[in-house]
Amino acid sequence: MKKPFLNARIFMGSMTNLANRPFRRWVTGFGAEATIGEMAIASYVVKGGSQDAALLRRDAHEKIFGAQIVGANPNHLAKAARLAERYGADFVDFNCACPHQSVISHGGGAMLLTRPDKIVTQLDAIRQAVSIPVTIKIRKGYEADDDVAQAVVDVAQRVGFDAVFIHGRTKAAQYRGPCDWECIEAVARNSDIPVIGCGDLAHGNDVMCREETSACAGFALARGALAKPWVFREIAERQPLDPSSQQRLEWFKTLVTYTLDAFGRDRRGLDKSQKFLLNQLEFMCRYVPPAVLGRELPTQERVELWTPRDDLEALWAQSSRDAHKTLLGLAGFPEEPVADPRQDDEAGKP
Ligand SMILES: Cc1cc2nc3c(=O)[nH]c(=O)nc-3n(C[C@H](O)[C@H](O)[C@H](O)COP(=O)(O)O)c2cc1C
Repeated sequence: MKKPFLNARIFMGSMTNLANRPFRRWVTGFGAEATIGEMAIASYVVKGGSQDAALLRRDAHEKIFGAQIVGANPNHLAKAARLAERYGADFVDFNCACPHQSVISHGGGAMLLTRPDKIVTQLDAIRQAVSIPVTIKIRKGYEADDDVAQAVVDVAQRVGFDAVFIHGRTKAAQYRGPCDWECIEAVARNSDIPVIGCGDLAHGNDVMCREETSACAGFALARGALAKPWVFREIAERQPLDPSSQQRLEWFKTLVTYTLDAFGRDRRGLDKSQKFLLNQLEFMCRYVPPAVLGRELPTQERVELWTPRDDLEALWAQSSRDAHKTLLGLAGFPEEPVADPRQDDEAGKP
């Protein structure tokens, strides 16, 4: 493996609406060495959207934090990057991978991969705007048969970017089909800046198998860490874990506490917390213990029928809203709000 970026090898990847501040605090506790914020749309940040600017803020417990920005307007990108630096980010990550229509219709996200020769304007604006390191998040390409990763990384390298995150799928593939690790490894071998590979890393073993031979400088995990946040501990301890259903509940209680700490315990805070936690449980219920299944479940696979080892494990496996509300109750989620004089610390003024 190559020399790591900012001395971190294992990253929690950016995930809008899911890898928020409480979640990132939680996975930091499991061993995520660096974390990346939810994508902030640069033009909204510049217009003064406080919720948008708040996405650039770190949690005090995050070790190394990258604020992620997206957009096509160089001016807006530069201003958003500057704000991220002022808020204390350790690096700014420029998202050129987002496949969502709302972003690509404005020329941002993965749309920038269609013109690798033109991307230099945006990269230059960001590089000039801040003195902290800057990184770019890309996909393999836009159309199904595109492979522009090396071309984009060459430009980023020339402009002075410090590292690149590559998700080995095209925009057309979205999140489906196999991640092209051959493409990631080829770019990692042929680039001077550190490449952090991303896609389908769901278990400690997935990372450890790659570490042996990889040219990457690090790995970023995303969906796998939603179903199994203790994957970071597996990587740190270099062994698979088989937590009991009760242990999973104890861990989940911690996430509930962190979420309430961040969003507050008044009516608004409880509603926001509940929405996020129920969303999270939709991923957590997909976990199937390898000891029961006889193998580790890949990110892309779902198994509906398996035999839980106890009642609580059976509850964890359910996908219904009622089951998830029961789990929230067991994890100590408050039934009633309390007066919370604290300002919502999600808000931030640009
Ligand atoms: C629901 C969801 C939200 C995501 N949001 C972002 C985002 O805001 N910024 C980003 O760079 N990637 C985002 N991603 C992509 C992930 O960071 C990651 O690159 C991709 O899911 C592949 O990794 P995985 O197979 O480990 O999930 C998102 C993925 C999902 C599934």
